[in-house]
Amino acid sequence: MKHYTSIQDIDSLPNWVQEARALKAAPKAFKNLGADKTICLLFFNNSLRTRLSTQKAASNLGLEVMVMNFGSEGWALEYGDGTVMDQGTSEHIKEAAQVVSQFCDIVAIRAFASLTDKEKDEAELVLNGFKKYTSIPVVNMESSVGHPLQALADAITISEQNTKAKPKVVLSWAPHPKALPHAVANSFTEMMLKQEADFVITHPEGYELNPEITKDATIEYNQEKALENADFVYVKNWSSYKDYGNVINQDKNWMMTKAKLGNAKFMHCLPVRRNVVVEDAVLDSDQSIVIEQANNRTYSAQIVLKKILENLN
Ligand code: CP
Repeated sequence: MKHYTSIQDIDSLPNWVQEARALKAAPKAFKNLGADKTICLLFFNNSLRTRLSTQKAASNLGLEVMVMNFGSEGWALEYGDGTVMDQGTSEHIKEAAQVVSQFCDIVAIRAFASLTDKEKDEAELVLNGFKKYTSIPVVNMESSVGHPLQALADAITISEQNTKAKPKVVLSWAPHPKALPHAVANSFTEMMLKQEADFVITHPEGYELNPEITKDATIEYNQEKALENADFVYVKNWSSYKDYGNVINQDKNWMMTKAKLGNAKFMHCLPVRRNVVVEDAVLDSDQSIVIEQANNRTYSAQIVLKKILENLN
């Protein structure tokens, strides 16, 4: 595998999940695989889990790690071809990407959606710009439209906690005061469609995700009905896709509660706003598996880096 920028880069999900779980049992089993190699983590946006888990995964494989908060410390990048750069941008992606690739062997990038320009967001200017102009593998640490490292950690978590051949998994929208991207919900949907699951998405009308991504998923607008007999409930806010990037409804009745959860396991990618997205009683219960989910971010990153390194060596 050269790049890991989307779920579609996974050739066999069951094998990857199994290998990730083996790495979790023996994290240092390949501690020399990354010897004399460097990964550069470029953050155009904030992070806690992605930053620490990717560093941890790289360190477990013997990689040197360089981290840069590009969004606050780097030059403002230009992406357009032929632009007269006499405005706010100082450096073109063409030079920046080539320069970065001289310093490291793998580059991992976090660059969220603007939520103001759907066309530009879907063009994935940062991620695809690096893919186009670097000669080294690129890893997506959450882009405009996807968060494939998170979704792989989610699949690992479900495989560890699941007791059924075909569990019922519900992705439930929740209210939030700010406009949030679609990346986590998109990648989780793609991931659930790749594995054996009775998968249902529930949200208020107007919060439909990109229909290209959800075309093979069941959508149920009645949250109570969607949650019936659920084994796993994944809660996430996202802004409107149709009315792009806008918060069109903050209906508090969509907050996840213990009563609504039933006997299901509760999942969320974190960070989460308590008593807005989900009530304390859920997060503080044994049914919440969010901490284990976050822990599995290390092993999702580690299996990805291992496969990239095996291809480099
Ligand atoms: N879930 C996740 O990506 O967390 P961070 O934004 O803290 O990295």
